[in-house]
Amino acid sequence: MMAQSVVRSVAHFVPSKRVTNEDLSKCMDTSDAWITERTGIKERRFIDTESISTSALGLEAARKAITLAGWEPRDIDLIVAATLSPDYYFPGIGVMIQHQLGCRTIPALDIRAQCSGLVYGLSCIDGYVKSRQAKKILLVCAEVQSPVLDLTTRGREMAVLFGDGAGALCIEAVEGAAFEGRGILDSYLGSDGSGADVLCMKVPGTATPGFLRASDISEARVHPHMDGKVVFKNAVTRLIETATTLLKRNNLQARDIGLLLPHQANLRINEMVREQLGLSPQQVFNNIDRYGNTTAATIPICMSEAMEQGRLQPGTLVMTLAFGAGFTWGGNLMRW
Ligand code: UT7
Repeated sequence: MMAQSVVRSVAHFVPSKRVTNEDLSKCMDTSDAWITERTGIKERRFIDTESISTSALGLEAARKAITLAGWEPRDIDLIVAATLSPDYYFPGIGVMIQHQLGCRTIPALDIRAQCSGLVYGLSCIDGYVKSRQAKKILLVCAEVQSPVLDLTTRGREMAVLFGDGAGALCIEAVEGAAFEGRGILDSYLGSDGSGADVLCMKVPGTATPGFLRASDISEARVHPHMDGKVVFKNAVTRLIETATTLLKRNNLQARDIGLLLPHQANLRINEMVREQLGLSPQQVFNNIDRYGNTTAATIPICMSEAMEQGRLQPGTLVMTLAFGAGFTWGGNLMRW
């Protein structure tokens, strides 16, 4: 009998500092009307002191998840961390979380799949579980993005979209007839590196002569940039491709989905996907209005809030969907 990957707990942590669209309109030429109409975002959270790093946010979410699962840090035998905004250029945040939690010297793996971090992470964890290499796994998805945004009119297209936050899941390998058909049922992942330059932050990096030059800072190249329309179109196509593939190969219909937890990049993207799949608004969980795009952390924050609101009950069929920089995309199908 195959081992199943079951979510034992999920938690999130966001900084307390709320930054409204109105606040942003004081430092750049933008408006609440533009941001709300184009994205659905009303506010986001930013770290309130520059001393808070990505691993520190991830750690808060991880500690909550571990407590909810009734685990101790020494029980964990694998950490998977997903972020595009690590504390250091290297090493990744997985080892920092391993150390700060006081875990044993277990493997700590960092995933660089940007907004698809959660869906890639769950797929990877399911592989560890099915090959019996790990039993109690901590997945941490965390981002501190506010310090790299260009919070002036020059950077407004990106700056209004992103926020800081973290989510964490405790996932356990279980076996036996009682768990048949439970946990992660399937994952579908994809990538297309021809889109790497469409949404990226190139500097600092080894493709830049000198890695990081004084002129890169003075000429504001140390910020992310994006061709929003190209990303938007690709996102809608790939998210629908992912959802229909997962449904088809598991002999399921859209109406069987209990709750869709989509990445939170743009409410218009999620509405298009929802309409094309024929889902009702009650079948989809969105919270982009309150957090903006927290990249790898969007889906675990949605999952944690859905759990708190009682929308994830034993037996609920859950689908995750994500698309982001790379391009990378994918989804997971889970029976709660
Ligand atoms: O998580 C990773 C995946 N990311 C995504 O999926 C994001 C995908 N893309 C998007 O969400 C949308 O393309 C955006 C929200 C980024 C932009 O929306 P849009 O409807 O594609 O707007 P646009 O690019 O057509 O921009 C329209 C206008 C431009 O002015 P002109 O040239 O028409 O005069 C922009 O300069 O809006 C201007 N603009 C802004 N105006 C006020 C761009 N950013 C802003 C801003 N405030 N923040």
